[in-house]
Amino acid sequence: MDKKLFTRITGLGMCVPPKILTNADLERMVDTSDEWITQRTGIKERHLVEGQTLSDLVTVASREALQGAGLKGEDLDLIIVSTTTPDMQFPSTSCLVQKELAAKKAACFDLAAACTGFIYGLSIANQFITSGTYKNILLIGGEVLSSITDWQDRSTCVLFGDGAGAAILQPTTEERGVISTYLAADGNFADFLKVSAGGSRQPATVETVRQGLHFLKMRGNETFKVAVRAMGEAAKQALASVGLSYKDVDCMIPHQANIRIIKAAAKNLGLDKDKVFVNIEKYGNMSSASSAVALYEAVQQGKIKQGSLVVMTAFGSGFTSGACVIRW
Ligand code: UT7
Repeated sequence: MDKKLFTRITGLGMCVPPKILTNADLERMVDTSDEWITQRTGIKERHLVEGQTLSDLVTVASREALQGAGLKGEDLDLIIVSTTTPDMQFPSTSCLVQKELAAKKAACFDLAAACTGFIYGLSIANQFITSGTYKNILLIGGEVLSSITDWQDRSTCVLFGDGAGAAILQPTTEERGVISTYLAADGNFADFLKVSAGGSRQPATVETVRQGLHFLKMRGNETFKVAVRAMGEAAKQALASVGLSYKDVDCMIPHQANIRIIKAAAKNLGLDKDKVFVNIEKYGNMSSASSAVALYEAVQQGKIKQGSLVVMTAFGSGFTSGACVIRW
């Protein structure tokens, strides 16, 4: 009988555009202050595109991940790009990236689960790998949130940044890698965080643009409360389903939306703050890119080592939430 397969992350990559927008820059754009942004969110600066497209960022991150895994584009079986800000409505950004990587035999699709997208993608890739369907999967979380940001709305424009993080997923017969995933959603909260116009329900018109309906709108305070609960709960569920608890966790990679959400979710879970990875100060909230970039940097900084038990947990528009447990 064939041995049971597990999914390992064998390469990671990231890309943020070079342009940095600091809190001091924002003070000159809207009625805000470095003090408010730092205290309420933990963010000091964020990277924004200047001429680059989402597929440019994704391609750079993907090349690094491929190199880390010792693979070429032509080795890929599947490319998944998680994004809410694709280059265009269609074709999918994953197809555009496939061309850049010359990944001729890869199937491609984009995934829409907002900030939880990288975790949703890990879960999907895990199914393809453990079933023996595919051997080499490229998963990317990437966003150009600056393209849907209203730069006159101080309640949202201080929060977001652009970037991409990529991972190569491959099978192993060792009992390690992805050991559990948990996904959830609650469409009752669909109105709390959304871009109203530009889809088929409300196609873009001069009037929708005049009203700013092509920009992201968020009911921040209500979203905050659900985020704390949902991120903690998702992590608990993913751990409990394989008989583990917070006591077994070496490193938590939370979605980087707000330092106060991260701290409260870690407290809910019972985790010490030195086990929680935070890089929000440098990048802000990059939606589905946040988890991927945080994972990349935690590995680079030696916070995740071979054998570490990692729990990733995220929350986003939808509302969606999810978590993933990985034995590194
Ligand atoms: O990525 C996944 C989903 N996203 C999230 O999980 C984000 C969730 N929400 C949050 O992170 C927080 O709710 C925010 C950071 C967006 C806002 O923080 P808050 O503590 O919930 O503030 P608030 O919205 O309750 O606003 C408090 C005050 C208001 O003034 P008044 O009404 O008390 O006079 C706002 O007008 O802060 C004001 N305010 C600002 N002041 C200075 C809002 N934005 C700003 C700003 N600068 N940028």
